[in-house]
Amino acid sequence: MALQTAALVPATFTLPKEGKSSPSFKDSTFFGVSLSEHAKADFSSSALRCKREFNPRNGAVRAETTATATPAISRSAVDGKKTLRKGSVIITGASSGLGLATAKALAETGKWHIIMACRDFLKAERAAKSAGMSKQNYTIMHLDLASLDSVRQFVDRYKRSGRPLDVLVCNAAVYQPTAKEPSFTAEGFELSVGTNHLGHFLLSRLLLDDLKQSDYPSKRLIIVGSITGNTNTLAGNVPPKANLGDLRGLAGGLNGLNSSTMIDGGEFDGAKAYKDSKVCNMLTMQEFHRRFHEESGITFASLYPGCIATTGLFREHIPLFRLLFPPFQKYIIKGFVSEDEAGKRLAQVVSDPSLTKSGVYWSWNQNSASFENQLSPEASDEEKARKIWELSEKLVGLA
Ligand SMILES: NC(=O)c1ccc[n+]([C@@H]2O[C@H](COP(=O)([O-])OP(=O)(O)OC[C@H]3O[C@@H](n4cnc5c(N)ncnc54)[C@H](OP(=O)(O)O)[C@@H]3O)[C@@H](O)[C@H]2O)c1
Repeated sequence: MALQTAALVPATFTLPKEGKSSPSFKDSTFFGVSLSEHAKADFSSSALRCKREFNPRNGAVRAETTATATPAISRSAVDGKKTLRKGSVIITGASSGLGLATAKALAETGKWHIIMACRDFLKAERAAKSAGMSKQNYTIMHLDLASLDSVRQFVDRYKRSGRPLDVLVCNAAVYQPTAKEPSFTAEGFELSVGTNHLGHFLLSRLLLDDLKQSDYPSKRLIIVGSITGNTNTLAGNVPPKANLGDLRGLAGGLNGLNSSTMIDGGEFDGAKAYKDSKVCNMLTMQEFHRRFHEESGITFASLYPGCIATTGLFREHIPLFRLLFPPFQKYIIKGFVSEDEAGKRLAQVVSDPSLTKSGVYWSWNQNSASFENQLSPEASDEEKARKIWELSEKLVGLA
């Protein structure tokens, strides 16, 4: 589809009038993909924090999953419990973008050892160097999330290293908005869901015991989410919308042979597959919270760091999109967040003693203040979360 500069102006969408529940859009390839992934965050502001009922501006509905205060680790407990050692944090996909910026922010504090879990060792080494990270603050370990064997090997090597695990950040992702045909992981799962969800699902399940054993003041499992999967936002309403349907494609293995490559059983769509994978990420975080928070004291969290329009996430997009998207976000939508700022936000979720509440999806307002955001009905559907957990267990060989 031809790109038109006209697609950059906000006249291509209309904000709902007060009292109307959903915005309307005129979609184009450029605009649809851009807004659906990255338009201004949720129109969220501190006002949303106070107002948890239906919000006519963005169609937000009351959250179905409410975060609960951490019983095992309260803020005072965190403050009171001191440790002399550095915290150990694994960050997947730390070779660029948000993961790298987070690694850098944590390394600069001198309080963290960062395990950069990356598929390209040399790229990660160069990235750490160019970010000015001191050698003593990081270790690079090979991890390819598109291969369950690689995930298992990574976990084995990590356990054998004898290093404690205090925080795990599931950050890596692939996004294929222009793909006409699906591609697949080593085990034959559609690539976006296979990497972003199934690879991380296995990784976090296999490392859960290590997190449980951590004696660090606050142990955490963080799965990076996205505004894209949340249809209670303007951005989440741009087609193709996230929709997991009745999970028939996931149940069939997403292999394109005896099942669809899409979770809902539909035709392959790369942009939708990414959004669906993000819904799985956010549902998985909540399911972890329900199953393990109380017994383990682990804080489970997700977040939308804001629109980081300059990262490699858009590498498969056409060059004109990559050229225009950052200024579009910066000057028109005003949802742009720099990699440095986004890295500080995720670093906060890793280490800030005030962010120990479990089951939360964090966002930041225009003043860069964090707040507990609302998830869409689908991204907070407990029954769906349970089913996805059980189906995913089968697919990754845990059940
Ligand atoms: N950019 C945004 O505006 C935005 C908005 C909301 C949420 N997010 C989320 O932020 C996270 C990071 O994205 P980003 O924007 O920082 O993009 P990015 O710069 O492309 O980072 C993605 C990372 O994932 C890694 N990766 C991809 N496939 C992998 C695999 N099979 N195994 C291991 N690592 C793999 C990449 O490794 P290579 O370096 O080897 O390619 C890269 O390090 C994602 O979860 C994304 O959904 C981003």
